[in-house]
Amino acid sequence: MEKESYFVKVPKGKAGEKIKELNQKKELRVELKPKKEGEFILIPIKGNQTSPDGREKFKVRKEHKSVKDTLKERGEKIKKCRYEVIGEIAICEIEGGKEKEIAELIAKTNNVRSVYAKASALEGEYRVRKLKLLYGEDNPITTYKENGVRIALDVKKVFFSPRLSYERARIASLTKNGERVLVMFAGVGPFALVIGKQKKEAKVIGVEINEEACKYFEKNIKLNKLSNVECFCGDVREIVPKLIEKEKFDRIVMPLPKEGEHFIKLAFEALKKGGIIHFYTFVKRSNPLEDAWKKISQNLNLNSKCLKLEFWRKVREYSKDIIQIVLDLKKVC
Ligand SMILES: C[S@@+](CC[C@H](N)C(=O)[O-])C[C@H]1O[C@@H](n2cnc3c(N)ncnc32)[C@H](O)[C@@H]1O
Repeated sequence: MEKESYFVKVPKGKAGEKIKELNQKKELRVELKPKKEGEFILIPIKGNQTSPDGREKFKVRKEHKSVKDTLKERGEKIKKCRYEVIGEIAICEIEGGKEKEIAELIAKTNNVRSVYAKASALEGEYRVRKLKLLYGEDNPITTYKENGVRIALDVKKVFFSPRLSYERARIASLTKNGERVLVMFAGVGPFALVIGKQKKEAKVIGVEINEEACKYFEKNIKLNKLSNVECFCGDVREIVPKLIEKEKFDRIVMPLPKEGEHFIKLAFEALKKGGIIHFYTFVKRSNPLEDAWKKISQNLNLNSKCLKLEFWRKVREYSKDIIQIVLDLKKVC
């Protein structure tokens, strides 16, 4: 006889809190992993776990309606309604009218205090976009929790994406204690903090050019009490050559998908033989690997033969024709 599985369905931003609450009430089924379902997380809970007909059943105790469900119920025909939650803030893209009403619905569904609309593309060297307040308090400072770390940031002044949380956990799990790790383009420190938190015996250095991001990176190191993580504020082209005067790196993370290839030569020179580069890039959906290798070889010339592809994966969708991928490259000569 198979088990029936029961879940509590909560918005992504509320999952941590709910798991804690269920665990305290001893309702959480710790042997099962929570699952993603669109804007929601399904948290496995205890219940009547045997099914008389022998088939597996999934019962969901739905505690919240999604924004899309509510809009559908109200008969609203909205062209586009996407958003992501960063701490107490939601950042959305709404097309087809009723921006303010939908922003309020997003705030109430996700229990966030401020909802901003994207008002430009990511711009300039700092990769920051303009935001327009649609609902709530105009306070762009918040703290986001992920992979066991707390990340304070100002959504108007720095780049941050919760969508890379899986990648941060993946790289932290690949890192071995004792490694010297460089995170180029470190932002407010998410990669460096997650690696440093999970591998206390690794030394993690992040380099970031945006002074506002550096300020939060420093604050986040203290917030998470990480003595093995360090922030260097400035241009990687000036800082990295100094960092490798005594010792090169075992692992280098390059989370700059737009034009990060211009820094691959610098990363190659800063890497020990046998070390790994995690290279993020935007490529054509039709031939992702060929496209990525073209960028690498154009910037590394003959040295590109010394990089062996160990692994690659799609990180996220970007547009109809473009996706973001990551390549794990090993320096073999
Ligand atoms: C796409 S964001 C990634 C930020 C962070 N790693 C994250 O995942 O949230 C790229 C970051 O690189 C920084 N950056 C751009 N050019 C740089 C350079 N030459 N040296 C150091 N940092 C740079 C930007 O300010 C920005 O914070």
